[in-house]
Amino acid sequence: MAHFLDIDKTEKSALRGMIDNAIAMKTARNGRPKGAPDDDLPLAGHMVALIFEKPSTRTRVSFDVGVRQMGGETMVLSGADMQLGHGETIADTARVLSRYVDLIMIRTFEEATLLEMAEHASVPVINGLTNASHPCQIMADVMTYEEHRGPIAGKKVVWSGDGNNVFASFAHAAGQFGFDLTFTGPEPLDPDPSLHGLYTTVRNPEEAVAGADLVVTDTWVSMHDPQSARERRHNQLRGYQVNAALMAKAKPDALFMHCLPAHRDDEATSEVMDGPHSVIFDEAENRLHAQKAVMRWCLGL
Ligand code: CP
Ligand code: NVA
Repeated sequence: MAHFLDIDKTEKSALRGMIDNAIAMKTARNGRPKGAPDDDLPLAGHMVALIFEKPSTRTRVSFDVGVRQMGGETMVLSGADMQLGHGETIADTARVLSRYVDLIMIRTFEEATLLEMAEHASVPVINGLTNASHPCQIMADVMTYEEHRGPIAGKKVVWSGDGNNVFASFAHAAGQFGFDLTFTGPEPLDPDPSLHGLYTTVRNPEEAVAGADLVVTDTWVSMHDPQSARERRHNQLRGYQVNAALMAKAKPDALFMHCLPAHRDDEATSEVMDGPHSVIFDEAENRLHAQKAVMRWCLGL
């Protein structure tokens, strides 16, 4: 079963194929209206369930629009409204949904939920973010980097901030796409130990970004973090804000990325987000194209 659970669990050649296919599909649409179908309609007759146990703007809309452009149909489900949120097991939910739909995308809390869904589903399952990772986002980020600057292999990518789920997928991607990843952030918010060996830590943010081709950050408080940790996290992370002074230490043509949603003037200043290095809205757009390629790979279409 071709599940898309994490970038480090997917073959390198498959990942490369998905990025290349995403760029080709984006080019082929050539500015047609967003609701207009693709010429080849690869998902015609297919039903896709999109399950959300956390809020979402980009993931929800980009998956829904992407399926429709490819000729398929979607069902957007809120975890809280399903029996899943009222005691039905994940395994039984997976078995039942597999009788109705051809593909399942789930955004959830624990990684174990995603893995259990994949184990018991008889259709492909896509990770739409867990507390541990966000692979669809980083597929879009790799695509965005390569559109602007060519191959990402051998480039220096620097993450400044919380060693969170989005960082984890960057670390998986560093191994698979062959780029060099540096983490700069406070020790208490270091990435998960399972990622050791995939990146280098440099505590001083200015030293870390020296020579960077790409600077990335994300929110200081993720959806799974308790609100009670907000103030402590802000105090720990304030020194890792991506601002114009920090970007000036990177290469002159460095790109800036943020998966969004952002808390402007916390993790990154509006000056950087709206400035010449920023490609944040290309990243958001490319969620659509990259995920269309992921879905086609899952379904072998
Ligand atoms: N970047 C991202 O996944 O955004 P949403 O939470 O809006 O889906
Ligand atoms: N790290 C963030 C990413 C949101 C797309 C979160 O998990 O809330």
